[in-house]
Amino acid sequence: MEFKEIKNFFAVTRNLFEVLKEIRKMTDFRPEIGVVLGSGLGGLIDEVEIVEAIPYTAIKSFPRSTVDGHKGEYIFGYLEEKPVVLMSGRVHYYEGYSMEQVVMPVRIMALLGAETILLTNAAGGVNKSFKPGTLMCINDHISSFVPSPLIGPNDVLGERFPDMSSIYNKDLTKKLHECAEKLGIDLKDGVYLQTSGPNYETPAEVRMYSMLGADAVGMSTACEAMALNHMKIKVAGISCITNMATGISDKPLSHEEVKETADRVGKEFRDLVKTFISKL
Ligand code: HPA
Repeated sequence: MEFKEIKNFFAVTRNLFEVLKEIRKMTDFRPEIGVVLGSGLGGLIDEVEIVEAIPYTAIKSFPRSTVDGHKGEYIFGYLEEKPVVLMSGRVHYYEGYSMEQVVMPVRIMALLGAETILLTNAAGGVNKSFKPGTLMCINDHISSFVPSPLIGPNDVLGERFPDMSSIYNKDLTKKLHECAEKLGIDLKDGVYLQTSGPNYETPAEVRMYSMLGADAVGMSTACEAMALNHMKIKVAGISCITNMATGISDKPLSHEEVKETADRVGKEFRDLVKTFISKL
């Protein structure tokens, strides 16, 4: 996307453009692929031949990641010889940021050059057959319980009323499954439902989400996928089911359990993402 000639932005694009200029002063790296690493899934960074790391705190008017397990930096480098930008940690709506701020980091990845973006997260399993440690390819989502990131003046990023019939790119989804099969990973398919968080769900809410067609529940991702779809970026998504959602398991939930399971399936997750990236 070329922004140089466009003068009269609304505030959203103007902020993005400022952030973009700031990052461009720090690196001229041009990623082709972007990856957002969810809670506890940051181990993939060890596999990257790092060219530059930019902490979110080094960027003016950029939201900071305040959650344990989310480091908060852009990593630029090569993974499987492909130029990538990784977001080690994201920001969430429950941290008190507006949806516009929440999706700013992924929009920036797109503006830096990434045309394909893989979104990952830790999620609770709503589908009773998904045990902790399951990897789920997101093939659709429900975001009706959080505000749309596209509320506000529409700008040059995309259409006012963007189509959302196929947010998760079908070719990428197929590729993820081919890679999983090659690696012997039982990758499931499913619908991700985003809540505002930060509280986990009640058993009654999980029953409702199940009736609505959700297979997994979490506090991120859908808003990012929508903002990227608006920009016509190709999106794929993987949820790591770290726990059975409330009421499905009778144990109380903790962030520690989420991080422990994400650690346990870290290797499978890394192998899947690496193989996927090598095929792009
Ligand atoms: N609910 C919401 N978000 C989550 C969960 C959950 O059970 N597990 C990991 N993130």
